[in-house]
Amino acid sequence: MLDLIEKLKEKFKSDLSQIKSLPEVDKLKIQYMGRKGEVADLFDRMKDLAPDERPQIGKYLNELKSYLNTETENLLFRLQKKSTDSQLDLTLPGRKPFVGRKHPLTKTMDEIKSIFYGMGFSVEDGPEIETDYYCFEALNMPKNHPARDMQDTLYITDDIVLRTHTSPVQVRVMEKTQPPVRIIAPGRVYRRDTPDASHSPFFHQVEGLVVDKGICFGDLKGVITAFAHKMFGSDIKVRFRPSFFPFTEPSAEYDFLCVFCMGKGCRVCKNTGWVEISGAGMVDPNVFKYVNYDSEKYTGYAFGMGVDRIAMLKYGIYDIRLFFENDYRFLEQF
Ligand code: PHE
Repeated sequence: MLDLIEKLKEKFKSDLSQIKSLPEVDKLKIQYMGRKGEVADLFDRMKDLAPDERPQIGKYLNELKSYLNTETENLLFRLQKKSTDSQLDLTLPGRKPFVGRKHPLTKTMDEIKSIFYGMGFSVEDGPEIETDYYCFEALNMPKNHPARDMQDTLYITDDIVLRTHTSPVQVRVMEKTQPPVRIIAPGRVYRRDTPDASHSPFFHQVEGLVVDKGICFGDLKGVITAFAHKMFGSDIKVRFRPSFFPFTEPSAEYDFLCVFCMGKGCRVCKNTGWVEISGAGMVDPNVFKYVNYDSEKYTGYAFGMGVDRIAMLKYGIYDIRLFFENDYRFLEQF
């Protein structure tokens, strides 16, 4: 009997050493340790032994059984590890989940807002579908006034338009609040324009309005200049040129020194050294009449700000249309 045990152990060892795959291990287990396997067979033969031999032989058989068990388990473990190791290439880069990001215009808008927050402005909102009254009339542009030609308008009906600028928010805010007023109003505006590198039928503005006692043009220049310095650096000069808007008097247009060539002249500034940002001026007393502000008591300034232009300057983009094409190859760069 001892001989048989020894032989079975040797046979098992040599069978085990031949095994290369997981299904073969299962077969080996059944062959040796199955209910009708070779070990069970040896246990069966115990009944033929003399009773005094049984405990000793039983002990050897149990030892054999646990030896076979550990050896097959070890082999199983080695084979499993090998198969996962070969499937798993740890040098491959991981798969990153898709993460969205902010549109460059939203980022620029956020930055503009935070600069004005820092200067004590609060943020107001107004409708993009606006009445003729708020968009033009209350801004001192009566119907058929030639000043309306400055902005090519998209009409929904004779009295309802897509707002051509954010200035109507000035009127809406003044109607519902008394001075002091210190607000910005960011948003989308629309004009009847054929798209090209610098025109789009919709674009973005941030309106600014400050009304209080003793507000003067110097305050306007100071705020715009402080903004330019915060946005683009303290070496960016600001230039005001006389202009005309029906809702401001005096009026100006203002430019920032071109951040790309610092005034030398380049593609971005069309060789002028300056980039036009928008218009500004002192609120016309006629506008105060529409909202029942006392123009003897209060003065104010207002400004517009072309967000798309500022974003183009910030990121060195030559074509405004890129913002609206939703090409992921463009958008993912920001
Ligand atoms: N609303 C004017 C425009 O869109 C800009 C402007 C705003 C001018 C405020 C003066 C004061 O062209």
